[in-house]
Amino acid sequence: MSNNVINNSEAKAQMKLRAAEHVIELVESGMTVGLGSGSTAAMWVHLLGERVRDKGLRIKAVASSVASERIGQSYGIPFIELRKCDQIDLTIDGANEIAPGLALIKGGGGELLREKIVASASKRYVVVADSFKVVPKLGAFPLPVEVFPMAASIVSCALKELGFIPELRLNADGSTYVTIHANYLFDCRGLTIEDPYQMKAELDSIVGLVEHGIFLDMVNYAVIGGETGAIERRV
Ligand code: A5P
Repeated sequence: MSNNVINNSEAKAQMKLRAAEHVIELVESGMTVGLGSGSTAAMWVHLLGERVRDKGLRIKAVASSVASERIGQSYGIPFIELRKCDQIDLTIDGANEIAPGLALIKGGGGELLREKIVASASKRYVVVADSFKVVPKLGAFPLPVEVFPMAASIVSCALKELGFIPELRLNADGSTYVTIHANYLFDCRGLTIEDPYQMKAELDSIVGLVEHGIFLDMVNYAVIGGETGAIERRV
């Protein structure tokens, strides 16, 4: 690995940590808290875990990913099952892309349905990210789309008609990636999303498509870690 690559990834890690540190104060005792997905959210879950373990912060948590749940459990954070949870006070989550209006692409980690359920149940939903995630338009990051396996071909054709190049996600050994909900996942490349609302409507209308990674009108604000400090961007 070249020094530039190492420096770049170290700089990104610092940006993510600054964003995570910036939002830790939002959590108060008594809250039901949503633990988001990805490495930035994971940094925040570690900070949260330390407060629960060492400082007596009393919360209940639900997680939008298996990884976040494991980190939380390692600190003794008490969890409630998502299926028994009707409302979440605050969720802190990462994102793959953040466009104007706080339109997001999420789901790169492969658990987008669970992530969207947690986001939609959250009274406050705050995104944490490094500044490389901020884009003028969504679409450079391949859009994750979860599909019922029996509808994979039909949905793939519909995605192509929209202009995407859908690629079935595979595991490292070449087998088909299966989500925790027993579905398949397409990573959709090749299209700049000019109008996220119109694209969301198009995707929502495809029968057999379980969920997609466009998140609109969900974020209260995003905290973007820059090289010199955290910058808060409100809707
Ligand atoms: C997971 O499916 C995504 O929605 C994540 O939130 C995203 O991958 C962010 O991850 P990083 O914080 O590691 O960039």
